[in-house]
Amino acid sequence: MTRISLRVDGQQVADDVEPRMLLVQYLREKLGKTGTVIGCDTSNCGACTVHLNGRSVKSCNVLAVQADGAEVTTIEGIAGEDGALHPVQEAFRECHGLQCGFCTPGMIMQSIDLLNDNPSPSEEAIRLGLEGNLCRCTGYHNIVRAVQHAAGTTTESGASA
Ligand code: FES
Ligand code: FES
Repeated sequence: MTRISLRVDGQQVADDVEPRMLLVQYLREKLGKTGTVIGCDTSNCGACTVHLNGRSVKSCNVLAVQADGAEVTTIEGIAGEDGALHPVQEAFRECHGLQCGFCTPGMIMQSIDLLNDNPSPSEEAIRLGLEGNLCRCTGYHNIVRAVQHAAGTTTESGASA
């Protein structure tokens, strides 16, 4: 077992973990952060995306021990203190950027990272930025619209500004 200490969604935590434990397992099984989900065993789907020191990572692709000393943010840590949805969450709600919702935590975490890098992305940049996140339901159109909406690059009708 290896001792790790990190901040998760603003709270300091410390645990003994097996060196082979994945960060996604640590978040879900040790901390109960089940908002971060596992959609594959091939590192393809992106459903497990969280922020590690402010950058998106697939948490099934990171060992818990690699997060020692880090700041991790999950989908459960992005709402405002008053419980208000994060603007990107609000945009997904507003634009119907989800159906079953399984991909949504990862999509939102990836979208936030994308918008941090490029606050005004083109449709192509959004599609490229989300290429590591798979959705089986939506056909992606409303997800792209949601990111455009969050960026303020859509008009009321949803057309690109
Ligand atoms: S569960 Fe991590 S990429 Fe699919
Ligand atoms: S909304 Fe169902 S997988 Fe994306």
